[in-house]
Amino acid sequence: MELSLQIYFFSGTGNARTVVQWFADTALKRNIPAETIDIAKTDRKKIQPPPPHSLVGFVSPTHGFNYPPAMMYFIFRFPRSKGNSVFLMNTRAGLKLSKWFVPGLSGIALWLSALVLLLKGYRIVGLRSIDLPSNWISFHPGVKEKVVESIYSHCKGITIRFASKILDGKKVYTAFRDIIQDLLISPISIGYFFVGRFVLAKSFYATSACDKCDICIDNCPVKAILTVDARPFWSYRCESCMRCMNNCPKRAIETAHGYIIGIMCLLNMGIMVWFWQWVGNFVTIPTGNGWAKLGVTLTGWILTFAVMVLSYRIYHYLLRIPGIRDFFYFTSLTRFKFWRRYKPSRQMIAKI
Ligand SMILES: Cc1cc2nc3c(=O)[nH]c(=O)nc-3n(C[C@H](O)[C@H](O)[C@H](O)COP(=O)(O)O)c2cc1C
Ligand code: SF4
Ligand code: SF4
Repeated sequence: MELSLQIYFFSGTGNARTVVQWFADTALKRNIPAETIDIAKTDRKKIQPPPPHSLVGFVSPTHGFNYPPAMMYFIFRFPRSKGNSVFLMNTRAGLKLSKWFVPGLSGIALWLSALVLLLKGYRIVGLRSIDLPSNWISFHPGVKEKVVESIYSHCKGITIRFASKILDGKKVYTAFRDIIQDLLISPISIGYFFVGRFVLAKSFYATSACDKCDICIDNCPVKAILTVDARPFWSYRCESCMRCMNNCPKRAIETAHGYIIGIMCLLNMGIMVWFWQWVGNFVTIPTGNGWAKLGVTLTGWILTFAVMVLSYRIYHYLLRIPGIRDFFYFTSLTRFKFWRRYKPSRQMIAKI
């Protein structure tokens, strides 16, 4: 039976998209028809079960030691297998120190998705991480163009070798090399899923350099940016994929480090201290009453979340005032010239 290939992918800044392209090109060179599907441009409800016995692939960046929620939800709702084989890949935050290529960390990204697909009846034939440059520029300046080029050409060979083996019908489980470290860091992925990603979603803002071109709004893969008070406003749908920040033509999107630190201090030293004092004054929790303790803890979390939602809304409103806007701009590390954006250019990729 003739093999056909479908690869579903999510990509913020283009790393995962390029891996998909390298894989599909390898297939096409062998006359294997390859369909690449960007899940951000696809209506999940219209996804049909893959043709019987076709090969299916999923490729996505790693976010907080897991696949981003958009990819996770997609896999959770993906149709059941009709005798299909599946391979899973994640792109990670690769670095290059001197001559050494330093890998990123996957956590549960491949394992959880593989388990879900196994339960849906798929046969897992490949698990591979690809260490393309880190795009997380809220935390570090974008990797230099020369290093990006070097990491890309290193990873292209790795991807093509992996693709060739999979297309030859072999099984490749390179990800097993990392399983111990992946399991050790897996608890962090839970913290990122429930807390970290929401904090990060609220770290972006548009400076006065924004000319309201709406490019960020139109290109967001999960339609997370709204227009509020005639300026971009980041909603909780944001996956922190970094596409908007890296591609704003006016370099008008910054990470609000000052605001994030301020709100953390407010919560840890102010509001939550008051909350625990209030609990202590009015409610006596009998020792050993686990349910009462759980109730108070949950209330604490709900309060924290409510403060965060409200404060981002107030913050966004206050950014209209020039002095306040300048203060937050001043406390954003991403404003410095040396804090490069991450944009692997198509010309650079094409010439590798
Ligand atoms: C919010 C966020 C979280 C990330 N978490 C991880 C991680 O846990 N492990 C890792 O190796 N890389 C992590 N990265 C780096 C990206 O996974 C990596 O740069 C990826 O290749 C980006 O792919 P893309 O260009 O297709 O979006 C993270 C990046 C962002 C923006
Ligand atoms: S892409 Fe930049 S300039 Fe355009 S609307 Fe978004 S923040 Fe403003
Ligand atoms: S708002 Fe920006 S960072 Fe968030 S998902 Fe959309 S493009 Fe990515």
